[in-house]
Amino acid sequence: MTRFTRQLPHRLLPFILGCFLASVTAIAQSTDALSALSAARILNVETGELLRDHVIEIKGNRIQGIVRASNASTTAVIDLGDVTLLPGLIDAHVHLTGDAEAQGYQGLAASVPRNTLFGVKNAAATLRAGFTTVRNVGADGFADVALRDAINEGDIVGPRMRVSGPSLGITGGHCDNNLLPPQYDHSSMGVADGAAEILKNLRRNRKYGADVVKICATGGVLSKGTAIGDAQYSSPEMALIVNESHRRGMKVAAHAHGTAGIKAAIVAGVDSIEHASLIDDEGIKLAAEHNTSLVMDIFVSDFILAGGEAAGFLPESLAKERMVGAAQREGFRKAHAAGVNIVFGTDAGVYTHGLNARQFPYMVRFGMSELEAIQAATTKAAELLDFDEVGSLKAGHFADIIAVPNNPLTDISVLQTPVFVMKNGQVIHQVKKP
Ligand code: ARG
Repeated sequence: MTRFTRQLPHRLLPFILGCFLASVTAIAQSTDALSALSAARILNVETGELLRDHVIEIKGNRIQGIVRASNASTTAVIDLGDVTLLPGLIDAHVHLTGDAEAQGYQGLAASVPRNTLFGVKNAAATLRAGFTTVRNVGADGFADVALRDAINEGDIVGPRMRVSGPSLGITGGHCDNNLLPPQYDHSSMGVADGAAEILKNLRRNRKYGADVVKICATGGVLSKGTAIGDAQYSSPEMALIVNESHRRGMKVAAHAHGTAGIKAAIVAGVDSIEHASLIDDEGIKLAAEHNTSLVMDIFVSDFILAGGEAAGFLPESLAKERMVGAAQREGFRKAHAAGVNIVFGTDAGVYTHGLNARQFPYMVRFGMSELEAIQAATTKAAELLDFDEVGSLKAGHFADIIAVPNNPLTDISVLQTPVFVMKNGQVIHQVKKP
């Protein structure tokens, strides 16, 4: 017995070594294979420069470099023709595990496992729409963590994800679910009142895989019984959340529509204000001073109002949307003009997943240049999400690349119809040339 075990490694060594070498060669072959993408234009999203006669060389799942077409060191070139190549887009505010077709009371029917499966479908739709990275802000039951992990492990296709797990909020606030009467005794998983509950929930979120913390600082449009102007978490509660989250390496995204709540959240040190609908001049000044990003979902209002009660939106939600929608767009214009950092985020899940790029024309209409709108969804979003290997077509970055018809710098709407999507070096979607 002893002799056998002592001898075992020697006998097996050639076999083990053989397997090891075989697998290393397999990996080496796959990562060594060089391929290239060529197109009429390649957009440098940092400078706005459009490169012609160049190709993007890709090795394995990363960009190897951008070189003159005549200097390409591979013949494995996918020529996409008269399109513009740019980095995969990033949406900093989505709810992949939410079914956009089930609003209000209809949403109560879905279990966490069912929501997770909606997430599988929605992740694929989002990726095919050219969004190769997203930040998911709020999901009960850690459905978002499961989704992120399944994507990372290659079980399903979807964008890279940052996830928050359950959003933290006060009892009866926007991050709670207030649809059911008391006998059902239901509250959302992230409800946490006061310091002890906050710390417990925040640490639990970290334990089960959250990358970022989502909180509700004010009432909301779609929640029952919350007023837009209501401040929810108090300043000391928010300061505690920010302090603990930053200490644990997580950023804080604060849902806030009301003027006072927006300012309180900025002063408490959150990293981004989500919606920021009724931001005033003082709020804009504070955001600039604190370097707080604004993630303003200025497209979704049209969707909510067009869908109306038939889509399940509560009558009170429609009334609240009429109060914030137009004001939010004016706030966007002012905040942008004042130089505040604005990051692309859309609240997908309230509207149908995959339509994310519909927001770009609104951003241009309300003051951004086409390049600024693209930067909000690439370089700036990558920074807010702490992803330093996505958001631009740099050597060493992940090969997350999309192609759109024509030139997005002269017609931003082309971002709505990507003809080619690559994530992590793999072609996800390609419209065949006629
Ligand atoms: N989830 C958000 C809320 O319920 C949606 C707000 C949409 N409206 C808007 N104008 N951005 O508050």
